[in-house]
Amino acid sequence: MTSAAHGNLNAVEKLMSNGHNHLHVQDKYVLPPGERPDISHFCDSYKFPVIDLKNLDGPHRIKVVNDIRRACEEDGFFQIMNHGVPETVMKSMMDIAKEFFEMPVEDRVCLYSEDPQQAVRVSTSFNATKDEFFEWRDYLRHSCHPLEECINSWPQKPALYREVAGKYCKEMRVLVLRLLAAISEALGQDSDYLNAIFGKHSQLMHINYYPACPNPDLTFGAAPHSDICGITILMQGDVSGLQVLKDGKWVAVKPIPNAFMVNVADQIEVVSNGRFKSAKHRAITNTTTTRISIPTFYGPSLDTFIAPAASMVDEKHPALYRGYKFEEYTKAFWSQSALKRRSTLDRFKIEISP
Ligand code: OGA
Ligand code: NI
Repeated sequence: MTSAAHGNLNAVEKLMSNGHNHLHVQDKYVLPPGERPDISHFCDSYKFPVIDLKNLDGPHRIKVVNDIRRACEEDGFFQIMNHGVPETVMKSMMDIAKEFFEMPVEDRVCLYSEDPQQAVRVSTSFNATKDEFFEWRDYLRHSCHPLEECINSWPQKPALYREVAGKYCKEMRVLVLRLLAAISEALGQDSDYLNAIFGKHSQLMHINYYPACPNPDLTFGAAPHSDICGITILMQGDVSGLQVLKDGKWVAVKPIPNAFMVNVADQIEVVSNGRFKSAKHRAITNTTTTRISIPTFYGPSLDTFIAPAASMVDEKHPALYRGYKFEEYTKAFWSQSALKRRSTLDRFKIEISP
């Protein structure tokens, strides 16, 4: 047997979606007591803002922009309705994602990689070479922009994957660009502001697959973290699992059918000099139902220089972060393990003397 084949055997054993890993919680998934999700003590009464985008492109735009500003300042998370993405496109994407993770494991393991630089990859946990404790998930991750340059390297199975995911990515990009314009205005800038700051832009498709778990209190689907891109648009289907940290409490987000969850991510926090918040969040598992969530991570291209925008910095608001090339930020993120990645932003903070 070749070493590559040995490597593949190994990968099959690592994958959560290999047909047996999800049946009992092996030691490497069991978190130390202080790190476990306290699944009986979370808040489900707080409601994150739900913003209707119906009026975004009409005479009431200013009201929608104000709602978005408040949500970005106070919550970092909001759900959006009437976002313009056809339900059929959303459903087809969710269905093909499910099909992808329900194919025989041999059809996925050929894409297995633990190298974050790999443009198209299937992996498990967060950063399998570094994680002390594994997260209860597999994922497929690949670039989507510019679409014509990357679509030919996407998975070939299921047969319709490229067509369906390609349509979804195009819709996501249109939606993100509308949101970036609105968020720019919410920051008091021209609608083109963030579009220009993000340089050549990057768009990543990320499909999380969280099988049902016999002991959801011992493990995380995704450990607490903030997203490192500029903005995330999450399709979370109809199974709960997402929790967001709000005023020190973990709040469960109930999915609204056909809505998307939007969150400010680290690069918008940095550009806005901390005015808009990249909120911490996590995913927990449940005993009965497999959950699939599909975040689109959208932000600057790797070669883009990111820093607090000059217009966001003054005597009262000194720069909170140093500038960097986005590539440096992504490397810092991927140098961490599942339980440490919550702190990437902190590594770019400027110490402000009292
Ligand atoms: C992520 C994430 C949340 C979820 O993949 O970054 O936060 O609900 N996922 O799956
Ligand atoms: Ni996230």
